[in-house]
Amino acid sequence: MRLLDALPGTVVMAPMTKGSNLPYRRLCLELGARVTLSEMTVARRLKQKRRGEFALIRRAPDEPCFGVQLAGTNPEEMAWAAALVESRGADFVDINFGCPIDHFTRKGLGAAMGRQPNRIRRIVEAMKRAVTAVPVTAKIRLGWNDEDRNFLDQARAAEDGGADVVTVHGRTRNARYRLAADWDAIGEVAAALRVPVVGNGDVLFPHEIEASRTRGGCLAVMAARGVLIKPWLFREASEGYLDLDGEARVAIYRRYVTLALEHWGDDVHGRARVREFLRWHVGFWCRYARRRDDGSWPGMQQREGTPVLRSDLEALLARGDEPALEFVTDRLLAGEPIEPAAAPAPVAVPLDADAVVEG
Ligand SMILES: Cc1cc2nc3c(=O)[nH]c(=O)nc-3n(C[C@H](O)[C@H](O)[C@H](O)COP(=O)(O)O)c2cc1C
Repeated sequence: MRLLDALPGTVVMAPMTKGSNLPYRRLCLELGARVTLSEMTVARRLKQKRRGEFALIRRAPDEPCFGVQLAGTNPEEMAWAAALVESRGADFVDINFGCPIDHFTRKGLGAAMGRQPNRIRRIVEAMKRAVTAVPVTAKIRLGWNDEDRNFLDQARAAEDGGADVVTVHGRTRNARYRLAADWDAIGEVAAALRVPVVGNGDVLFPHEIEASRTRGGCLAVMAARGVLIKPWLFREASEGYLDLDGEARVAIYRRYVTLALEHWGDDVHGRARVREFLRWHVGFWCRYARRRDDGSWPGMQQREGTPVLRSDLEALLARGDEPALEFVTDRLLAGEPIEPAAAPAPVAVPLDADAVVEG
């Protein structure tokens, strides 16, 4: 499916290191996702023929509109990588101009590129020349910090270079996740560009999809943490708010285990890999909070002190402490019932437990 046909009004599954693994994307597709992206893939590592990096660009057979996100600083290398991923089946090629992690920004990658709009333009131009049929999209942040919110320069540079779509994550690099996403700034970009804009930041419940899209004047919204916390967000996008109880959620988590075992293999090696990913996902699933009894909605930025829980199972699934996360992971992997009475005693959760690894 062509990206520009698939985009209007949709929720794009964000590129997420670790989170956008192939079986998790398949789970999201089963729950209604239509546009998906790979984890960030470093062009140089593809050039070095690293197997782990090639695994990231693999498309699932049932993926209707799959983009590969590339990161790099060198226009020729990025152009080469764009042609490669197109030849391997990507429906579009996305460029990471937003990764905040020091390890990458020190090398000039990700958000560091955002400080040099001319380089953005040159990279997009080179990649556009290298691909034959697929769109090239650019994902930017609002800037490096509050003093340097150069999002209009970045967005125009991407458009001038030939980007077909620009995605804007409504925060600066230094803000990380501390502040709410600035959808008005996203709206400024949408108003300034001729090409479509996808807005990104803090979408967790279905009513926020349309509200954010309208506020940002965007063609579509992109969701990251919301999708890790509740992969059924895509179904909610078409059906409205779904009040899934603990059992219904566990059924979805079990489906991930099945897909993950299919992908990594149901042997000792494969199960170790599945366990590693599953434990990571369980750390997001425990953050799920329902609509409150008074009808108000918990926000992505505030963690609920006492989520509204209806059963011992929901209470267990909401625990963010290590023994509970390990217990739930092991039961899911073993395909065994999750019996709250058998769960280990809670331990205190460190204050920074919500910190996430960003790409
Ligand atoms: C675990 C995780 C990994 C991420 N990895 C990437 C990545 O590889 N590439 C990228 O452009 N953004 C990455 N991001 C950022 C998201 O794509 C998104 O821009 C950001 O989380 C804001 O959206 P949200 O408020 O819906 O979470 C990552 C985010 C998370 C939570």
